[in-house]
Amino acid sequence: MRVLLYLPNKDVRELLGFQLSSQVKVILREMDSEEDAAGALRKDDAHKQAYEILAAANSEEAANKLSENAEAIDIAIVPGDRTDSVIFGHLKTRKHPVAVIFVYEKSPPDPSRVPGATVLGSVPIQEVVEGVVKLLKSSAEKAVEADGDSEYCPIRTTLLIKAIPLHSDIYIRLSKNKFVKLFHAGMKFTQDDMRKYYETKKVEYMYLRRNQMDEFVTNFRKELMDLVARPSATPAELQETAEVAFEAIHEMIHQLGFTKEIQEVAKAQVAVTLRAVGKNPKLQDLLDGLKAKGDYLARHSTVLAHVGCCIAKEMEWASEATFSKLVIAAMMHDMTLQNHELARINTLTELKERAGEFPPDLVKSYHLHPSKAADLVRSFEEIPADVDAIVLQHHERPGGAGFPRGLTNNYIAPLSAVFIVAHDLVQFMLDRAEKFQLGDFLAQRKTEYSQGNFRKVITALEKMMSAGGAS
Ligand SMILES: [Fe+2]
Ligand SMILES: [Fe+2]
Repeated sequence: MRVLLYLPNKDVRELLGFQLSSQVKVILREMDSEEDAAGALRKDDAHKQAYEILAAANSEEAANKLSENAEAIDIAIVPGDRTDSVIFGHLKTRKHPVAVIFVYEKSPPDPSRVPGATVLGSVPIQEVVEGVVKLLKSSAEKAVEADGDSEYCPIRTTLLIKAIPLHSDIYIRLSKNKFVKLFHAGMKFTQDDMRKYYETKKVEYMYLRRNQMDEFVTNFRKELMDLVARPSATPAELQETAEVAFEAIHEMIHQLGFTKEIQEVAKAQVAVTLRAVGKNPKLQDLLDGLKAKGDYLARHSTVLAHVGCCIAKEMEWASEATFSKLVIAAMMHDMTLQNHELARINTLTELKERAGEFPPDLVKSYHLHPSKAADLVRSFEEIPADVDAIVLQHHERPGGAGFPRGLTNNYIAPLSAVFIVAHDLVQFMLDRAEKFQLGDFLAQRKTEYSQGNFRKVITALEKMMSAGGAS
């Protein structure tokens, strides 16, 4: 394990470094320069069970080391008193999780201030040696080496809480390849225990082993169906659950495949979304009341379901069957993409411009994603007709500049036209957030969508705007 040690007081830092080397198995490296530190991290780690300690002399250096070696450092020992420090700033926004031990003088920091970290514990400076040694020893006992992401499936903690009781092990992530078992299989813990843990530690995601997912999948589906049946469920609650559920289903499809059980969960998510959309969806409600809960794809897909149904309603296509088709298509259309940045790209021109940002195999997967998603839809049992066509055509453009087929307006199905404009509109909405104006969208896109079925969609949006639906 690699430990970054930064405490502003040089004496305390050296004392801790020295004591750690005598009490836990460590390889101590005092780094005088960035080159030394980088060199040490590149070196093959022959002592996997030992701690390798990288000391930093100030907050900036510590933050630099942590960001440059994002995946190579497992634990950071840093001061917890000054929440305005550079290192704190780094931990707040970090993408790769790192485990942290805070050393404080006056009071321990609130873990919720550092969402990018897993706080192992906070130690008062008077007990720095005993406290840190104890935390390091216990984390070493519990840490499990894992082969990257493959073995564990992340589930948002708020969702996992709802699926309790579970008889599987639950893990938290220390670093890219290290996970710690938090709750043991068979251990009795309640939703309250878990909620308390979440509230104090603010761990956004917990992990289940891939081969222990069955029980979670069953409970998860039941929870979604209970929510659909609960008369008191509010649209905001339904929408939020739909997003969080999407995220989990997306992850499970990538890790486990689109199994029968996961298809059942996907159907339950569609039912939740359909109830959130309601019979009389309004664009304005969506703009007013929703806060982002899920990741980009989850948000993009669930908002798209809603917007698609708003347009269909305005075009007087508000049947249950149409809404179902649009909601399922929205859920599935980007399901085979994994990279959220790539999912923001809409056209092949944009892809060309940004191709250098992504590995070639990802770029290739982007080209294929509409047809792969359509295949996935076809494997879905009892799915309504036309959904695969909508999914396959979601990146086509009326003038023929889209993909995969470069279809022109006359060859694009009417419901696909609704979906394509809704997809464009959602991107516009999410990019502009509170600055969004439907009028701006219409002004920019009216010419492009001036023919056939696309023209009808634009007319519906104009009607919506003049009725004051979304100014
Ligand atoms: Fe999309
Ligand atoms: Fe897409």
